[in-house]
Amino acid sequence: MKAEARNSWHKIVSHIHGLAFSSSLWQLQKRGLLSNRSFQLGEIEGNPGYLHALFRALDSLGWVERRGPLGTAEMTVDWSDRGAQIIRDAACLKVVPTLLEQALDLAEGAEIKMPPMEHNGPFSEWLLGHQVGPIMLGALLRPQAPLQDQAQELLVKLDWRNSEGWTEEGHFAFLQAGIYHYPISYLATLMRVEELLFGDATSLRQRTDDGEEGHVDRRRDILFSGQVFSGSVATVLWDHFLPLFETEAPPQTIIDVGCGDGRMLLELGRRAPKARLIGVEYNPVAREVAEENLNESPGALALHGDMGDPASIAAELAHHGIDLDSVLWVTKSVIHNRPYRVPRTSGRQGTTSAVCVDPQGQVIPGGDLEQNLLEFFQSWTPFVRKHGFLVVEAHTVLPQTARKHQNRTLAPVLDYTHALSNQLLIEASLFRSCAYEAGWRSESQSELGSEAFGHDHMTVDHFVA
Ligand SMILES: C[S@@+](CC[C@H](N)C(=O)[O-])C[C@H]1O[C@@H](n2cnc3c(N)ncnc32)[C@H](O)[C@@H]1O
Repeated sequence: MKAEARNSWHKIVSHIHGLAFSSSLWQLQKRGLLSNRSFQLGEIEGNPGYLHALFRALDSLGWVERRGPLGTAEMTVDWSDRGAQIIRDAACLKVVPTLLEQALDLAEGAEIKMPPMEHNGPFSEWLLGHQVGPIMLGALLRPQAPLQDQAQELLVKLDWRNSEGWTEEGHFAFLQAGIYHYPISYLATLMRVEELLFGDATSLRQRTDDGEEGHVDRRRDILFSGQVFSGSVATVLWDHFLPLFETEAPPQTIIDVGCGDGRMLLELGRRAPKARLIGVEYNPVAREVAEENLNESPGALALHGDMGDPASIAAELAHHGIDLDSVLWVTKSVIHNRPYRVPRTSGRQGTTSAVCVDPQGQVIPGGDLEQNLLEFFQSWTPFVRKHGFLVVEAHTVLPQTARKHQNRTLAPVLDYTHALSNQLLIEASLFRSCAYEAGWRSESQSELGSEAFGHDHMTVDHFVA
């Protein structure tokens, strides 16, 4: 990677860390919880699940170390030297609630109302993120619109613009700017961390019965996902996908579960033009967009369905006369968003380092998380036939792995935002071992993400059940 590209990526990562963590650190600061070098989690009155997720993420950033029985009230948190040095300046985070409110307006093209943040102190880049992120998204989405003076000033300070336009570093930042969709899509959650950490943990209802969601701006999340697909997943995916259509009896139907706007499915369809395309979505907005986009493919359908309820999806497919033996199932970044159910079998000893949280704000015991994933795979087994399930999934990594790459990795952000919205990231190795335990095997597999993050954080598997 060129030095300019590396520099812009480091700044982007700091901005996104700022967007994801400043509001939570401010809540700790407001309660005087940043003054002790060391404390037990049980001393903090709040929702343990979200607090544990926060401190695991700060561990991944190298700001704290956790000792004792992780995930319990007896766990001790020590600020590392670096963390202790940084939090001394945490009083400046009082502007964060206002910055977060402004970030949404900025992303929609409004003018900056506050003076640009001064560029000094350990939180400087973190705070800049609240303005730079939305400004860069605006520039990306409306490239023809002139930048406002304050926005230009801010980007000049970052060495991303000069009087002639984008600098070389700024050009790389512009190319990578779509990544800001991710934290901005979680603003609704990040603005309410006070309730999640310390108040009524159930107040931010993730999903109503008809599939509407309150924790994430799905439109942006899907834009971000699309960028991940075209930016890093697509070329790897073709290695696994194309050979399946070079056989004598290829799949006749491709079903993408959690298809988002349907664009990935259309891309798959372009490379397998004889196959019928079916998108399955539980989010009504996404389903409608998918339906519109899939119109260009004859016979395509966008059906309502939940990844956590394969039997209902299969019933809907039967209703449309689809033979499961003809189906290649596909899914990307959806399994971790399955609804969590307390597993049928209890008592499993877990080995995961992940902190996943149930909607009541409690830590899901690691063994239950693994068992729930195993039972999820088992629930799909009757419906995954000879063409199998092509699964692209995001994963958590051990905090010590993330720490080694703390200037490059977004793992702490992905872990924390997923935990805040009750999504179930687990390590790649455990993800696969639960699939194997359910009797699945991976016919071909790849790992992704190390180029940007320094470590793998996504996997592609062609599973056969
Ligand atoms: C991160 S986006 C990925 C979209 C698309 N698969 C892609 O990779 O571009 C997750 C998508 O899955 C949908 N989704 C999440 N949980 C789901 C579930 N349990 N069942 C069906 N769809 C789900 C969301 O509405 C969203 O469109």
